[in-house]
Amino acid sequence: MRDKSNTHPLALITGASSGIGAEIARALAVRRYDLVLAARRTERLERLAEELRRAHLASVMVIAADLSAAGAARELWTSTGQGGREVDVLVNNAGVGLAGRVADADVESVARMMRLNMEVLTSLTQLALPGMLQRRRGRILNVASLAGFQPAGPGMAVYYATKGFVLSLTRALAVELRGTGVTVTALCPGPTRTEFDAVGGAARTRLFRWLPLMEAETAAAAGVRGMLTGRTTVVPGWFNKLLAIGGELPPRALATALNGLLLRE
Ligand SMILES: NC(=O)c1ccc[n+]([C@@H]2O[C@H](COP(=O)([O-])OP(=O)(O)OC[C@H]3O[C@@H](n4cnc5c(N)ncnc54)[C@H](OP(=O)(O)O)[C@@H]3O)[C@@H](O)[C@H]2O)c1
Repeated sequence: MRDKSNTHPLALITGASSGIGAEIARALAVRRYDLVLAARRTERLERLAEELRRAHLASVMVIAADLSAAGAARELWTSTGQGGREVDVLVNNAGVGLAGRVADADVESVARMMRLNMEVLTSLTQLALPGMLQRRRGRILNVASLAGFQPAGPGMAVYYATKGFVLSLTRALAVELRGTGVTVTALCPGPTRTEFDAVGGAARTRLFRWLPLMEAETAAAAGVRGMLTGRTTVVPGWFNKLLAIGGELPPRALATALNGLLLRE
């Protein structure tokens, strides 16, 4: 059995029950991290936790939480700290991407997406930073998106705006954190094979029907590598890198129109 004297660093991962979050958990367990896995589907989390305990002798705690509920970020942070462990790595991965026109979307669903994609990520980051800064050590990985590089995403407008927020926040925070020993990284995947497109309806868009999908394991591996080397942004894959550059080139109206075409059903 592995020594359980808590000498391994601890990573808190939101949205670890499937897709990119589950793969980030696997990648960190291989690197001998202990883990706290959070999401709503407890059974999925427990199954992953058992896999990682068996394969890597990792210490894994599961926390079932609907992070789009009011006050959820603080509750998760408090539950994570109850074992007396410090969080060395925070992975803000939980997110949803609702597809469809703004005028047709359910007001509450959109509000929940904004809370999950932006507010929870920001609050957890704020809760993690004081301890990390005091220890002069810590890594934060924010799962943004290629969408964050695009000027706008007609057809997934609010989702694209939330990911623009995550990318902007991460870039600014990276500057604020220079020289502190704490780093923050935005992982910006393009279309990736997970449950994301089925959950939010993006599977119906041309973007997901026409473009090649990256494997979640590939996107996660790039994110973990980038985070551990302290990079500010990580865009996995050369094709996605081209799309990221394209989104930042003028005229921005052209990129907006192109995104609108790709986000049509
Ligand atoms: N797949 C893509 O093409 C793609 C591209 C760029 C960026 N991303 C980003 O990657 C991140 C992970 O998504 P994914 O692609 O891996 O999709 P996914 O397989 O659907 O995973 C989403 C994760 O978020 C969790 N989650 C959703 N709503 C939640 C809530 N209210 N409370 C707590 N957890 C919640 C889900 O767990 P439960 O359902 O169990 O709660 C799940 O673990 C997201 O931030 C997404 O925006 C995805």
